[in-house]
Amino acid sequence: MCGIVGYVGNETGAKDIILGGLKSLEYRGYDSAGIALICKGKIEVRKKVGEISNLEKIVGDPSFDSNIGIGHTRWATHGVPSDINAHPHCNSDETLSIVHNGIIENYMEIKEQLVREHDITFKSDTDSEVIAHLLGVYFDECGDLQDAVARATKRIRGTYTIVAMSSREPDKIIGVRKDTPLVAGLGKGCNFLASDIPAFLKYSGQVYFIENGELVVVTKDDIRIFDTERNEIHRDVFHVTWDVDAAEKGGYEHFMLKEIHEQPAGIEETLTRRLDDDGLVNLDGINMTKEDISKFNKIYIVACGTAYHAGLVGKYAIEKMAKITVEVDVASEFRYRDPLVDEKTLFIAISQSGETQDTLQALRLARSKGARVLSVVNVIGSSVARESDDVFYTWAGPEIAVASTKAYTTQLVCMYLIALYMAKAKGTIEDAYYRMIINELKGIPEKLNMVFSQEKEIEKIAEQFHRQNEMFFIGRGVDSAVSLEGSLKLKEISYINSFAIAAGELKHGTIALVENGTVFFALATQDGLAEKMGSNIEEIKARGAYVIAVAKEGSRLIADLADNCIFIPKCADEVTPLLTVVPLQMFAYYVAKFRGCNIDKPKNLAKSVTVE
Ligand code: F6R
Repeated sequence: MCGIVGYVGNETGAKDIILGGLKSLEYRGYDSAGIALICKGKIEVRKKVGEISNLEKIVGDPSFDSNIGIGHTRWATHGVPSDINAHPHCNSDETLSIVHNGIIENYMEIKEQLVREHDITFKSDTDSEVIAHLLGVYFDECGDLQDAVARATKRIRGTYTIVAMSSREPDKIIGVRKDTPLVAGLGKGCNFLASDIPAFLKYSGQVYFIENGELVVVTKDDIRIFDTERNEIHRDVFHVTWDVDAAEKGGYEHFMLKEIHEQPAGIEETLTRRLDDDGLVNLDGINMTKEDISKFNKIYIVACGTAYHAGLVGKYAIEKMAKITVEVDVASEFRYRDPLVDEKTLFIAISQSGETQDTLQALRLARSKGARVLSVVNVIGSSVARESDDVFYTWAGPEIAVASTKAYTTQLVCMYLIALYMAKAKGTIEDAYYRMIINELKGIPEKLNMVFSQEKEIEKIAEQFHRQNEMFFIGRGVDSAVSLEGSLKLKEISYINSFAIAAGELKHGTIALVENGTVFFALATQDGLAEKMGSNIEEIKARGAYVIAVAKEGSRLIADLADNCIFIPKCADEVTPLLTVVPLQMFAYYVAKFRGCNIDKPKNLAKSVTVE
């Protein structure tokens, strides 16, 4: 949500650098964009509703450029998407400008005070504009931008990343954060602030992660980080290992398709990092002893959306292998009930971005109740990673498309490895079975190529059904967890109303919706459940449904019953989700393409959901 880019350098050129940075953050989701520069000692703002291309149309004037500026892509929370509500916002005499990501919860009370005591006129309906005016008032009182920002953070409540600059101190941009991300990039003769690394990766791979409550002052020469008491903090530089190409499309039409095809590499990388030469799972860097593991009497896996779906597969794996009760919860529900968590609980948070507000708050709640927190995270140094006792990184590389694909499959790999590790530590797994699962996991990247070889057929099926208004996904066992993910993929990028349900639940209500031409995806990859799935397919077909099945190679029973059958290679039932999900991702992708949807940036969605 909301992308922020700030730049200070030696020479003019800030406009294009900031615009480029905003484009690299498009994946976060936005509905308007803006940029403020200090041009000849004055703050100049340009902002426009809609795509960044709309903003580009109004910034062509060559005199609108500078060596310093801030930019923003807004995802509306308070006030509709409009030119006026777009960021940056300024104080009344336009000597100060800010961009903000997050929500200021007490903005109404601050706004009323600013109007009452300072006669300030507000232009927008946003909560963010209060920050600009509040800073303006404080700056007038103390004459120092850093002090003004520090004071403002004591007055506002909520979640925020704020980047501010003033024409009265035109050599610096100042950033501060609470619960939403902020990183600083160290360039040559220039420095950056941004919501995420891709914004400046072209210029710098040297990064400082700014922690909650910290304030960072960025000039062209240095980056200085301070705590709330204004003490300077020493922070080690983090060196980014992935390059710009990883964050670009590399010949694919969309990031989503590229990321679907990157899954074998992501899975392989995640496995390689955690498997010893002798084929045993290592949890190097994770401080979980055998004793710790035998102490846990319950595991909560908590996450949102796709990451939650990965958690559901994790439950199957952990319960089957390590014999510990696992509860899987959506984070927004977990945090608002009274979950039974104590020192014997292992809390596993799954998050691609590591910045999802609900997941972060659930994690904090679990920690406050004494749980041990292990997180499965893709973005190194993100908030969820930093606040966990231990981190199990997914090595998917940067995921740019809003719809998660390679993050999901690498999260699944982590779930299997955690299950195996715990099972071994507890002695609940036979050696041969342990080795068999490891071998199956190692074989997945190769088997995915066989799934990819059916891409053309999947595209054809997608073409046939892209005008559908609704679709259903069913499955049994672990397939029912995957059906939820298939359905989410389809609805979020194609806007088709899709619904997933455990196949056995159909006749308890949902079958009432089946009529001639209703389209079903039937996931039938579990050997032991194939006959039961066969009966479910018969039931819906008898009522006129069209059935596209996903089954293991050679599964004649399912292939004969279904109207179409997509095959995954033979493998152990436990690991099928890693293969089954891929045709579903591709189907969603091609349906969305045939419908002319904005695949990488679906409407109303954001990549990193930093508000609750
Ligand atoms: C769907 C999708 C979302 C995310 C969810 C959690 O394709 O990407 O459902 O999975 O918003 O995000 P993270 O994993 O960043 O916590």
